[in-house]
Amino acid sequence: MLATKHYFILVRLAVFSLLMTAALLHADDRNPLAGNAKAAKAGEYEFRINCALCHGLGAHGGGRGPDLTRAVKKHTHSDAEMFQVISNGIPGTAMPANGTNGQGVGMTDEEIWQIITYIRSQEVKAPAQAVGNASRGKELFHGDANCSLCHMVEGKGGRLGPELTGVGGSRTREAIIDSVRNPSRRLAWGLTEATKEFPQEYETVTVVTADGKQIKGVTLNEDSFSVQIMDASEQIHLLEKDKLRSFQKTRQSAMPVYGADILSDKELGDIVAYLISVGPK
Ligand code: HEC
Ligand code: HEC
Repeated sequence: MLATKHYFILVRLAVFSLLMTAALLHADDRNPLAGNAKAAKAGEYEFRINCALCHGLGAHGGGRGPDLTRAVKKHTHSDAEMFQVISNGIPGTAMPANGTNGQGVGMTDEEIWQIITYIRSQEVKAPAQAVGNASRGKELFHGDANCSLCHMVEGKGGRLGPELTGVGGSRTREAIIDSVRNPSRRLAWGLTEATKEFPQEYETVTVVTADGKQIKGVTLNEDSFSVQIMDASEQIHLLEKDKLRSFQKTRQSAMPVYGADILSDKELGDIVAYLISVGPK
């Protein structure tokens, strides 16, 4: 009899601690799995499936997502903020919400905490090494290298290409360099409009209108019947497709290739240092 009673007490204790764990896992302000090596291991596995595509293996950053091993991040300082970003994504950027097709199958709260434990375990405490001369890079960007013809940084520059003020925070140094040396390898995302749920890729489009005029630029918007194009002089054209003489879209970037003969490795390093310096600290 006594044994059975003990048994019931044990069961009640077990149920109670299960409920407590569940409650803790829902408390968004603190990671209940912080520093837990087993959770970090599970998180690494989840990360590989759901995040590495953009953030790279080892969370060191990939073509589309920033390096998450930097201790100082742009959007996320506390674990709670990180939980929020992983759950809801970052609107207007390529960072998807949990459970949307961009990020694979939906994760449970516990799995998200495991991933956060993993990311924390990968963080390097030393600040990113500033390689290059940012003030020289600024001169080049807005001067001889002509980047500002097409790119806006801190409110100055053109609009044909993406705004680059935040690029130092959202992409790795290597990925930025690759975008300049090989613009067409991976087209930038980020054309956003209030009416659009997803940022659009910067595709290049060339059309010839009924009266024989050629227009070349990037697509801002497109549906089955019409296309909206921004040309190199930042003029926006809204055109009906069936009235066009020709319509060609390519994955050849509208950005010129900057080879080492035009822009040396050192000069490009200075420009990247500038882009990193204007990003969030
Ligand atoms: C489709 C690409 C993509 C996928 C998949 C993706 N991310 Fe991201 N993520 C991004 C981009 C891009 C940003 C940067 C947004 C910006 O600031 O422009 C980002 C930002 C973040 C940030 C904020 C970093 C900071 O500096 O504050 C965290 C944290 C993060 N992602 C975690 C994750 C995790 C964890 C996963 C997997 C569960 C994931 N991401 C999946 C693209 C992605
Ligand atoms: C003639 C216009 C033009 C010029 C000049 C130009 N770019 Fe671009 N750039 C673009 C366009 C359009 C894109 C988007 C398509 C793509 O990703 O290649 C782009 C994309 C980029 C990206 C990728 C951004 C992202 O979010 O992924 C970077 C980085 C970049 N440019 C840097 C530079 C730098 C640095 C210079 C000067 C050395 C420069 N660009 C000169 C038009 C230009």
